[in-house]
Amino acid sequence: GQVRRLTRQEIQIFVGVIAGAGVETTGRLFGWMGKVLAEHPDQRRELVADPTAIPRAVEELLRYEPPGPHVARYVTEDVEYHGRTVPAGSALLLMLASANHDERRFPDPERFDIHRDVGQQVTFGHGTHFCLGAALARLEGRIALEEVLRRWPDWEVDLDAARRAPTSTVRGWDSMPAVIG
Ligand code: HEM
Repeated sequence: GQVRRLTRQEIQIFVGVIAGAGVETTGRLFGWMGKVLAEHPDQRRELVADPTAIPRAVEELLRYEPPGPHVARYVTEDVEYHGRTVPAGSALLLMLASANHDERRFPDPERFDIHRDVGQQVTFGHGTHFCLGAALARLEGRIALEEVLRRWPDWEVDLDAARRAPTSTVRGWDSMPAVIG
């Protein structure tokens, strides 16, 4: 309930959080765009022909290949899920990527489909800590895809020569050579 200025250390930590949370994640999204749309050239051609479908395609990309596959929680009190008690003091890893592929929520979840009405997915988390940058990330995704497709409508990736990023918090690619048509 008191107003005070942030300390230098708090600002440094926050800038660090934004840099990590905001740059690494969207960078990984761009990598997945390159891979998934190379694997689905028919859908990529549809986006070239009709760029108004790009926001929906970005939503499906976020569902299909979430840049952050999980979030963690420390359990402060006993809590019951699915008839089982998770005891206080536990560390809980919530698999967002798995929820995004839950067949009870998404019919035929392993199919990438830019026409899917994605609705609620959990790539940006859920509840109190829902991603502060979700709107910015979606905007960046749309603009990146619009600009790439405008310049290079056709590409193939060399997956054998691609390198995965060895991080534990986000999943994606460090490099992925592409042949541009
Ligand atoms: C595709 C891109 C992104 C993905 C997949 C993503 C994912 C997430 C997820 C899953 C959380 C929840 C963490 C939790 O519940 O423990 C989160 C929180 C957060 N994100 Fe993002 N994010 C993205 C982009 C961004 C951007 C662009 C920014 C800012 C420039 C940002 C800033 C934050 C911040 C500050 C939080 C913490 C919110 C809180 O704890 O209240 N994120 N993000």
